[in-house]
Amino acid sequence: MCGIVGYTGKESALSPVLEGLRRLEYRGYDSAGIALTVTQGAPLWVAKRAGKLGNLESTLDVVPESHSGIGHTRWATHGGPTDSNAHPHLDNEGKLALIHNGIIENYVELRAKLEARGHTFISETDTESVVHLLSDARKAHAGDLAAAMREVCKELRGSFTLLAIHSDEPGRIVGARRNSPLVVGVGDGENFLASDVSAFISHTKRALELGQNEVVDMNASAIIITDLDGNVLPHKEYEISWDAAAAERGGYDHFMLKEIYEQPKAVADTLIGRTEGLDPEITAGIDFNAIDKVVIIACGTAFHAGLVGKYAIEKWADISVDVELASEYRYREPNVTSKTLVIPISQSGETMDTLMALRYAKEHGAKIFSVCNTNGSTIPRESDAVLYTHAGPEIAVASTKAFLTQLIAMYLIALHMGTERKKLSASEHALLADEISSLPSKVEQVLETVEPLRELTRKFKDATSMLFLGRHVGFPAALEGALKLKELAYMHAEGFAGGELKHGPIALIDQGTPVIAIMPSVGSLLHEKMASNVQEVKARGAIIIAIGDADLASADYKVRIPSTHEFLSPVLSVVPLQVIAYEMAIARGNDVDQPRNLAKSVTVE
Ligand code: AGP
Repeated sequence: MCGIVGYTGKESALSPVLEGLRRLEYRGYDSAGIALTVTQGAPLWVAKRAGKLGNLESTLDVVPESHSGIGHTRWATHGGPTDSNAHPHLDNEGKLALIHNGIIENYVELRAKLEARGHTFISETDTESVVHLLSDARKAHAGDLAAAMREVCKELRGSFTLLAIHSDEPGRIVGARRNSPLVVGVGDGENFLASDVSAFISHTKRALELGQNEVVDMNASAIIITDLDGNVLPHKEYEISWDAAAAERGGYDHFMLKEIYEQPKAVADTLIGRTEGLDPEITAGIDFNAIDKVVIIACGTAFHAGLVGKYAIEKWADISVDVELASEYRYREPNVTSKTLVIPISQSGETMDTLMALRYAKEHGAKIFSVCNTNGSTIPRESDAVLYTHAGPEIAVASTKAFLTQLIAMYLIALHMGTERKKLSASEHALLADEISSLPSKVEQVLETVEPLRELTRKFKDATSMLFLGRHVGFPAALEGALKLKELAYMHAEGFAGGELKHGPIALIDQGTPVIAIMPSVGSLLHEKMASNVQEVKARGAIIIAIGDADLASADYKVRIPSTHEFLSPVLSVVPLQVIAYEMAIARGNDVDQPRNLAKSVTVE
């Protein structure tokens, strides 16, 4: 995610743009930039810096007077967090500036076409292809920036929020959106554009909705909204009811809840352009046929994603996979060769345990292919290749959307390796890719049914312990559910393989012990086995909450999730577990976004 701000009006533009960026910095903070229209027809005034917004602000000692401008805080998807990759991006004359949130799927082909036309590129971003395309389109439309924007949007594939200004027309801002947020703030003699209302809520509570593939053309006194064919659309105005803090959380009570509900988009964004196979720019020439062993290294939630990845990679790529706790790995002095592929998984890219394990493996000749959510962080920088997840910034300490996108990354790597190693036929790959592509909507379906979990969770708010049972990929899901409850509700919780209970842990079951059972798909052999495990604990007094794609007769409470391929089921079964942990934390009066004793990134060993 990135933060997008535009201002045009009676005030000096710098102040409302900077204020908006401060309010949106939670959406992205690896670089920031501003462009202002100052003198008609002269190059725009632009300042942009890698790092947090404060880095940029420290350079703004002399800024010319301007009444319209755009600003951007970046969460890098293509190209690391550098000054040149920071937005705004400019045409070659420096008179047209563009900022972007989203992922342009066809930017490589667009860039080749534009370079052939003589455009010079200075960044690694997907966005820069758009500003040069817009420059050509504007010339073709006799300088009409809105008409040019409409034409460009028709040529783009992927998701975008775009804002553009040109120095020929100080005061005019043109914006467009597709599968990425953009909202209009309606002021008195001034107007605003932003990713969300928190950017301008202190100036106005009047907002206009923008729909899919709509273009907004505005100045200080007029706002025109059209579709991509130029048909003018009626304004859909509404009153903003939130305060500024609630607005930063998108109206949700906590960032964690917001991030739980962002999961369908996070999964969809991580899938864009990748289900048919991973681009060479991602795999960086790793020869998957020269690999004889895969080792996944990670911590906490990321480790649980790795456990699920083991099933998919072993089955689809027909290769042995070990999953190691990063903090244990190097002290075992494991066998590593040049034929070992090590996959570190890390949301932050800064976890010291994982970084030290990576360094050990690299020193011993392994190829490093990391999965990370933070572009340009240390772990990807020290890897041979990296598959970035596109969950956007995850503010809450408890990992939710990052976890689901780590699962998606595991499936994408397993698919890619399976095809590269000729273990998956084209039809098998296509079938799996289709089911994986259906996951965003299936996660959406789960989120539409979680409301009753609030009341259910409160029945157990005084429990001293909760057990989670799962089999096959349901076992890592059980481990993740237990971790969520521990770190949010400060309640003892433990995940078990269903078949393991009778070998000791069943002694924990007492009258009324809450047990969450993650059920394999109905009709599968493992479903019957799990049903037996549920009977075993129920017979000893447990209260059963069953999560599955069918009702389990012996369960006291049932949470239904859609059916999917068995390997993909944790993407759906974990969502109710996240919500249960969230609701338990609320019921117990805990700090949801910053639970006690924890940090978002553990940068010490
Ligand atoms: C998960 O809810 C925790 N925040 C924690 O287990 C986390 O997953 C772990 O510390 C790894 O962090 P990383 O993904 O940034 O490397």
